[in-house]
Amino acid sequence: NWTMENFIETEIKRIRKLVGETAEVIGAVSGGVDSTVAAKLMTEAIGDRFHAIYVDNGVMRKNETVTVKKTLDEGLGINLTVVDAGDIFLSKLKGITDPEKKRKIIGNTFIDVFEDVASKIKTKDGSDIEFLLQGTLYPDVIESISFKGPSQTIKTHHNVGGLSENMKLKLIEPLRELFKDEVRHLGEILNIPEDLVWRHPFPGPGIAIRVLGEVTPEQVKIAREADYIFIEEIKKAGLYRQISQAFAALLPVKSVGVMGDQRTYEQVIALRAIETTDFMTADWFVFEAKFLKKVASRIVNEVDGVARVTYDITSKPPATVEWE
Ligand code: XMP
Repeated sequence: NWTMENFIETEIKRIRKLVGETAEVIGAVSGGVDSTVAAKLMTEAIGDRFHAIYVDNGVMRKNETVTVKKTLDEGLGINLTVVDAGDIFLSKLKGITDPEKKRKIIGNTFIDVFEDVASKIKTKDGSDIEFLLQGTLYPDVIESISFKGPSQTIKTHHNVGGLSENMKLKLIEPLRELFKDEVRHLGEILNIPEDLVWRHPFPGPGIAIRVLGEVTPEQVKIAREADYIFIEEIKKAGLYRQISQAFAALLPVKSVGVMGDQRTYEQVIALRAIETTDFMTADWFVFEAKFLKKVASRIVNEVDGVARVTYDITSKPPATVEWE
């Protein structure tokens, strides 16, 4: 009978047989549940012959890199390489305001950085890495098939599908028959911390598509701080699991405010929180007024450069989840 415990056992055996006694595997981890579960499963199967690579692209959330290091490396015993590539990404994003261009730049830079790091990884017997691990889920498989239709140019989601062909690696996708809730269950059995197992999805291009207009280190910092406060309050209120995804976006407009007897002229934060089952359609989440009041006042008081906070009350469709 099919249980998650059986799945793990079978999958580990399958991976061992496929990889053999000496070959080695690399894979990107993002700090999200899919890549972490895939990486943990691989580590259970072949130990340090699996090499996880985390690329800090400069547009991750607050404390993300430190947390990933702690959880994956120290906590889960995954053989992890952390690459600080923030400057490279941010310099390539300079002057770019078009959302699709941002996505392409981040996707391509990611591939360049990943390949560069991967080529420097030393295997035990000096041979080349043979396999690439990807945490692809069943819905990703379906989506990538249906997205090949001619009219599907809605958004080119950050996708590293080309990596294996470019690098001549064989692909391993142990989660490709699973749905998200099954992956979360798998994560729990594999002792992945609850915080990570239930984490909201985070787009590949990260905060770059939540800073509307040009992405600069200063703008990223504002968006990042506001986002952190919003999520912190959501967790404190016990609402995190009820909400499918929540974040702060920084708008490229200035608005007049008042602080003490001073007139201010600073930017606007838009908060977004949605409920959905499949992310194809979504409803905005109904917060209590006093919750929104608290978040707005914290953001304006604690984040330099913000004079006003708004809450996005648009469903998908017609609006998308992200602002770009
Ligand atoms: P939209 O904005 O299209 O988002 O309604 C639906 C879901 O997809 C995520 N998203 C992305 N994920 N790369 C990703 O990896 C992207 O470029 C991207 N754009 C949107 C979004 O966060 C939401 O979960």
